[in-house]
Amino acid sequence: MNILLLGSGGREHALAWKIAQSRKVENLYVAPGNGGTMGVGENIAMKADDFNTIKSFVIGHKVDMVVVGPEDPLVKGIYDFFRTDAELCDIPVIGPSKAGATLEGSKEFAKQFMMRHHIPTARYKSFTSDTLDEGLCFLETLEAPYVLKADGLCAGKGVLILSTLEEAKTELKEMLGGMFGDASATVVIEEFLSGTECSVFVLTDGKDYKILPEAKDYKRIGEGDKGLNTGGMGSVSPVPFATKEWMGKVADRIVRPTIEGLAAEGIDYKGFIFFGLINVKGDPMVIEYNVRMGDPETESVMLRIKSDLVDLLEGVAQGNLRDRVLEIDQRAAVSVMLVSGGYPESYRKGYVIQGIDKVSDSIVFHAGTTWKDGQLLTNGGRVIAVSSYGDTIEKALAQSFVGANQIEFQDKYFRRDIGLDL
Ligand code: AMP
Ligand code: GLY
Repeated sequence: MNILLLGSGGREHALAWKIAQSRKVENLYVAPGNGGTMGVGENIAMKADDFNTIKSFVIGHKVDMVVVGPEDPLVKGIYDFFRTDAELCDIPVIGPSKAGATLEGSKEFAKQFMMRHHIPTARYKSFTSDTLDEGLCFLETLEAPYVLKADGLCAGKGVLILSTLEEAKTELKEMLGGMFGDASATVVIEEFLSGTECSVFVLTDGKDYKILPEAKDYKRIGEGDKGLNTGGMGSVSPVPFATKEWMGKVADRIVRPTIEGLAAEGIDYKGFIFFGLINVKGDPMVIEYNVRMGDPETESVMLRIKSDLVDLLEGVAQGNLRDRVLEIDQRAAVSVMLVSGGYPESYRKGYVIQGIDKVSDSIVFHAGTTWKDGQLLTNGGRVIAVSSYGDTIEKALAQSFVGANQIEFQDKYFRRDIGLDL
């Protein structure tokens, strides 16, 4: 079959790497892709949210399935665009409908959904500029730290955690005053939850589901989880505290009620669900939903899926996921992100990358790279993820370091402590 994968990051290279291993795949197209995806598929210069161009391509190249990497096209309704188009309606899109994508597109919708279906999450209230005074009063009833979330998508920047009441009040006024434009016209204020985070990924056909290997990501730029938030500096799978018992609670209290809730509300959902969880004294609670795979979790999770991913995706598309097999590699996988100096603040692009050919015992996923005149260049803050297997997290990490040191570009930086807290 011919598959079109949308997106351009490390997540998409990892998905493309796994999809390309399937014997069922004839052609894999990645749009727009990056310097790495062109090694496993064909890059197509097309934006992931340019639906009309995607339509012409899908028809012209006899695409049999569209796999959506990032949330943007989903929140903009690519699933519905296909379902309601006479020429596209038989072509499956792996990803939720626009209504389903609201689980990520609106924090308030996600919180209300969890309330309706009794899914454990932090207590909250939401406010608009009309109810600012009530919001300020609500903050006074909470204890520090204070969690403020812009309702809409803000490229991962819409959550503020403030240590004093004064700061929280100031930021609430700023957010409702348009700090993130329309995305913060509504702000969710919620109780702060203390615990260790874990990302749980599920593939669903809307009725049944498979729980993929869980992972933990490392968001801060500095070692010891210090400094600014980034798009992700590395990831580890499995997560030691996600025992069989804990994952049983996740399935019973969170995954099943979510999928049953979506079905009960008539929301079409055939794709990945990413549950951002926190372990509060042994009990999993939901921090957020995402309607896609995580980045850089995917760069570890894909290593641990032994089964043919395309077979599972076919199960999603055909509504018979129950009959497909998910086999998981028992080894650990660790992914270390190489970033450009200065990131997540200002950094430069266009540095020459060398040494990838020397890496033999790791898998190199490109995040922000591009080819120009026969040279591979940095093309983003997060540049390359080096992913490795190991019998233990420590061994996988040590292997990723070997690769991380072999790859060279100016001002390269990476964290050396990925997974060590676990
Ligand atoms: P989100 O964009 O919802 O994932 O939030 C970004 C990060 O903020 C999360 O990964 C958590 O580390 C943190 N966070 C969000 N909500 C809470 C909460 N209620 N309690 C503690 N930390 C939170
Ligand atoms: N790793 C977190 C995310 O993809 O949103």
